[in-house]
Amino acid sequence: MITSGRPRAQKAVIPAAGLGTRFLPATKAIPKEMLPVVDKPAIQYVVEEAVRAGLTNLLTITGRNKVALENHFDRHWELEQALEQKGDVNRLRRVQKSQMLGEVHFVRQGEPRGLGHAVLCAQAHVGQEPFAVLLGDDLIDEGDPLLEPMLDAQQRHGGNVIALMEVPPEQIHLYGCAAVEPVDNDGDVVRVTGLVEKPAPGEAPSNLAIIGRYVLDPSIFDLLSRTQPGRGGEIQLTDALAESTRSGEVGVVGVIFKGHRYDTGDRLDYLKAMTRLAVRHREVGDEFREWLLEWVNTPEGQGTEGSAPH
Ligand code: G1P
Repeated sequence: MITSGRPRAQKAVIPAAGLGTRFLPATKAIPKEMLPVVDKPAIQYVVEEAVRAGLTNLLTITGRNKVALENHFDRHWELEQALEQKGDVNRLRRVQKSQMLGEVHFVRQGEPRGLGHAVLCAQAHVGQEPFAVLLGDDLIDEGDPLLEPMLDAQQRHGGNVIALMEVPPEQIHLYGCAAVEPVDNDGDVVRVTGLVEKPAPGEAPSNLAIIGRYVLDPSIFDLLSRTQPGRGGEIQLTDALAESTRSGEVGVVGVIFKGHRYDTGDRLDYLKAMTRLAVRHREVGDEFREWLLEWVNTPEGQGTEGSAPH
């Protein structure tokens, strides 16, 4: 449902400069976005999601230690040649897919000054158009559309659009949290009246958490450049969006997401994402599911026998 002549976002920004400390030591030398989920690095799922939503111009915000990201979306001539000579067409296609997804650009965030600062690094590339932001370690299940409804909502309402998801109250302090009010006749869309980044226990206005998808109005750059360091001493995107809810001119709406989302920077969520995607995998899915079903009923699967915990 598109009811206005507002321009649709064409570009996607993918902040991927974080240190990945929750996943050490795996992320000591490898960017967390490159950790494989079955047979693709996490960030490839995010790029594929953007491209499926029509966002083929992508800007990745990287930092030190992130060269592997650039290599992944670039050509690898020697590998392609070797696979071609062997006639290994399947693997050749898989390798080529990562470099044909869209137009992937890179800019480095010189200092780790927070998500808001990372988004600000995209200003020259984005210009004066609405744009999407996809956090590099948040995976949204392919079967549960989120970005398209957000792009539609941005065209209907203008302003900024954030993705919201209900979480158990005891987890809300891990997220940006939104105060909302209903919007008439617009399904899962709500008006955001206030935002707090990682609220202290008891101070959350709701249990609606911001998850890693945004469609932003370019006026956010001006707000970000005036945003003072907030939680954790970092420039927070949530704080700039909170200012936007107050300023009255460019507001914020939320799209409530009810599907599956995985934070691949979190070990438990990463394992869940891996399992769900593995059982659906075209080549290994059936066998893996069969094995899993058998194994789960064994003493080791039941946790009553087996090797010591790591
Ligand atoms: C960031 C945002 C936070 C949001 C979260 C979603 O936090 O600052 O508002 O809820 O992503 O994943 P981070 O997880 O980078 O600390």
